[in-house]
Amino acid sequence: MAEIKTVGVLGAGLMGSGIAQVAAQAGFDTRVREVSDALSARGLAGVEKQLARAVEKGKLTADDRQAALGRLRFTTDLGALAQCDIVIEAVTEDLEVKNALWRELDAQCPPHTIFASNTSSLTIAAMAAATSRADRMVGLHFFNPVPVMKLVEVVRTVTTSDATFDAAFQFARQLGKEPIAAKDSSGFVVNLLLVPYMLDAITALERGVASVEDIDKGMQLGTGHPMGPFTLLDFVGLDTTYKIAEIMFDEYREKRYAPPPLLRRMVLAGMYGRKSGKGFYDYSVDPPKVAALGI
Ligand code: CAA
Repeated sequence: MAEIKTVGVLGAGLMGSGIAQVAAQAGFDTRVREVSDALSARGLAGVEKQLARAVEKGKLTADDRQAALGRLRFTTDLGALAQCDIVIEAVTEDLEVKNALWRELDAQCPPHTIFASNTSSLTIAAMAAATSRADRMVGLHFFNPVPVMKLVEVVRTVTTSDATFDAAFQFARQLGKEPIAAKDSSGFVVNLLLVPYMLDAITALERGVASVEDIDKGMQLGTGHPMGPFTLLDFVGLDTTYKIAEIMFDEYREKRYAPPPLLRRMVLAGMYGRKSGKGFYDYSVDPPKVAALGI
């Protein structure tokens, strides 16, 4: 397997730009592809802000920040990723959108290029099948916020070769992350356990067991979680959680993955959490207060 030197990232959203930042800081020549100049500029601004903050806190030198930024290039040209040794996809959770990109890159990249998806719940095998390099397709699942969270799930599907899996595992370590190995089953390890927990919190709220604040406080102070389940739902995004739960329910047909009605209502109402300004909490005020849900 060729040494990984150049990293391509598809998508400059929260996850994509976080992955790109970590790759550039780890010394990799990194190219990030977005669909528009405006989205590219937003991704770059986000990384610049994070790096500036790290310099302010004394966690990064100004020289290292400049070096990381020098290794990072945002572009709208998919062809700019054609010479990358690994391409990590972090676009919307839509199989067709992902596969259209994989097909195009499959035709442009050299044979050694590894394709890695940051999907949180879609099947890696369904992406592998869209390419002529099913043995070089893996999952590399990062966690939000990417620069902070140490874990990466490295996911092998039925067609992934040992050499590809080992290279991806080693690459995650080179990024300064702690990789774990997971099978290509929906939710891998973390979401398999985390999603039912978050859905159960919503069901507990629907049943009137306790308030949003008290359920959050209970789990935060009673189990040492950094965030209670509703703060976490707002952080992950209610729309994202709903989508993941639907995909997992579709895979396992088990009630534990079925999105509760309240989650669906909130998503329909555009209450996505922090990203939309309102979810279980209202972020238009500081500190955020519990949102009125009429239940
Ligand atoms: N990007 C970069 N750094 C960030 C950040 C961000 N978005 N948010 C916080 N940080 C940094 C802060 O700068 C701070 O760094 P220092 O220690 O160097 O000062 C550190 O993280 C701690 O931040 P704060 O003191 O502001 O706040 P905190 O102690 O409450 O930590 C948190 C914030 C790290 C987000 C913490 O609350 C936490 O770990 N929450 C749980 C997050 C989680 O579970 N993520 C996984 C979600 S599931 C997922 O992503 C997968 C999926 O498929 C859905």
